[in-house]
Order: sequence, then C-alpha cells, then structure tokens
Amino acid sequence: MKFIHVPVLLHECMNYLITDKSGIYVDCTLGTGGHFSQIAMETHSNAVLIGFDADPKAIQYCQDTHKIIQKHLYINQNFENIRKYCFRNGYIKVDGILMDLGMSSFALEDNDRGLAFRHNGPLDMRFSPDIVQSAADFVNNADINEIRRVLWEYGEEKASAKIAREIEKIRSQKPIKTTEDLANIVKKFNPERFHNKALSRVFQALRIHINRELEVLQIALEQTTMMLKPAGRLAIISYHSLEDRIIKNFIKDKTTDCICPPELPICACSHKAVMKNLTRKPVLPSDEEIKTNNRSRSAKLRVVEML
Ligand SMILES: C[S@@+](CC[C@H](N)C(=O)[O-])C[C@H]1O[C@@H](n2cnc3c(N)ncnc32)[C@H](O)[C@@H]1O
Repeated sequence: MKFIHVPVLLHECMNYLITDKSGIYVDCTLGTGGHFSQIAMETHSNAVLIGFDADPKAIQYCQDTHKIIQKHLYINQNFENIRKYCFRNGYIKVDGILMDLGMSSFALEDNDRGLAFRHNGPLDMRFSPDIVQSAADFVNNADINEIRRVLWEYGEEKASAKIAREIEKIRSQKPIKTTEDLANIVKKFNPERFHNKALSRVFQALRIHINRELEVLQIALEQTTMMLKPAGRLAIISYHSLEDRIIKNFIKDKTTDCICPPELPICACSHKAVMKNLTRKPVLPSDEEIKTNNRSRSAKLRVVEML
C-alpha cells in the first residue's frame, strides 16, 4: 500500500546536510523514506546511506518501495542506539546525520496504533513493538499523580489533574481501552471549541511518555558528536517546543567555549565548543509549503557542523 507522507523542509535539509556527495549519511527517522530517498538522489553511487526506524513497518515499507543504487542499510532500532549499530556495521565516522522527529503519516493512519485521536482504535501509541508498556497499560495502571505529571509536563494540559482523577474513577469501573474512551474523558474538561487542541495535547503527552521521546533524543544527540567527521553536519527537524528546547540546549552546549557563571573572573570550566551553529534562527517552512503540507506548520530545522 502506498502512503502519502510529504517530507518536510526537504530541500532545505538536503542543502545543509549533503557536504560530500560520496559521503556516509545516517537518517535516524526513515518513516516512509522521503528524506532518505532524496539523499540517495542527491549523492553519487559510491555514497553510503544508513536508515534507522524503531517501527518495523517503516523499514518494510522502505525496503519494498525505494530503489536505491547506493550501498544502504536499513536498521530496525531505536535511534538511541545509532552509534552502536553504525559501529557494528563498520561505520565509525559519518558525514551527515538527519533526525525528522515525531510520527510519520504511515503510523498516524494505522488505526491499530492509537496515535491519532480522530480514529478510534486500541490505545497503544508505541512506535515499536519492543516497547513493553502501551498507553492503555499506562492509563489503567499508573499512579494517578504520575498520569497528572505526564499530561502536565509533556502536554501542558491545564485540566491534567481533573483528567487524571476522572481516569482513576473510570478505570475502577472498566478498563480504558480505546482512543475514544480516552477522548471522551478529555472532552469532559474542555469546552467543545477546544476539544481538538486538548486532545492533541493529551495524546502528544502520552506518546512522548510511552516512547521516552525526550530522553531518547537527548541520548542520541550526545552520540552524534562522537560520530560526525570534522565538517560533518547534524540536521534536526522538530515539531514541538519540548523537543526544540532540548535541541537548543544541546546546540548551545556544543557550540560554546566557556560555560562558567558570568560572575567568575576567569574560566574554570575548560569547556570547549566542538560544533558550529549554522542556523542561529531555525529554518521554517515557507507559506507555500504550509499550504500544501499542513503537517509542516510547526516544523523547525536546526543544523550544526562539527568543528
Ligand atoms: C516524521 S517521521 C519521518 C518521516 C521521514 N523523514 C520521511 O520523509 O518519510 C518519524 C519516523 O521516526 C520514527 N521514530 C521516532 N522516534 C524514533 C526513535 N527513537 N528511534 C527510531 N525511530 C524513531 C517513527 O517511527 C517515524 O517513522
């Protein structure tokens, strides 16, 4: 089956990412392979392409769909393990690494995944079958304060305490199993005109928690500094402020020499920049792109280069 996932900021990404047309490139988030196949199109036949996705269906889709002439590897692993798996395959240093965070339309349209509140389906939300706890396991079993914390910290949902208490009440009568079961609870505490926004916040929060998205991002970013060749580039597209904050802090840390408190008269930290920031301001999609691909509206591209 063909899925329509329009790759976001495609040409902007390629312009930044590809510095050596015969280089080695890692796409941490293959999805339907939109960026990956474009890297293949813009590099020579002796380039090497490595694609990761935690979702086996994404790997299968790319294997079945893209005809790539370069040497390439599809790795069905979480990108928190990028360094280990590149190393195992003999790739210690690479020229470019791309992360296009979040979900693909592929996963969103899969009703069995419970990622989209617009489709009723099992409340699952796992990017990968290797993840033990589903969103249903979490809402039915977790401590109520933990549920409230997740909804507040990862979704900034104002009604998080009320929703958590209602979850506790409902689950004592019957398990919360589907996206609709959860959506009905969330709707009770938000006026109708804000239903979609509230549901987006709550579903985002649970998805981030179930997939450890922020922790995994932090782990992977750290590894990129050990994997990139000098002048190699890391390009990251993020879609919400929690991801973007982690990326901004990472970039600040890796591109700054001294990180001592300003009141210290001389540097005591010996911290040295290892990267250069190529996008002081994030690259945003054009109005044209937003018009044709609504998913791109919240995208931000940031790029750093290894010194
Ligand atoms: C926005 S989509 C990527 C779309 C892709 N750039 C394209 O053009 O088709 C993000 C993909 O990353 C995968 N993903 C998200 N977090 C991941 C992680 N921690 N490790 C590996 N894959 C991940 C998802 O399964 C999804 O397929």
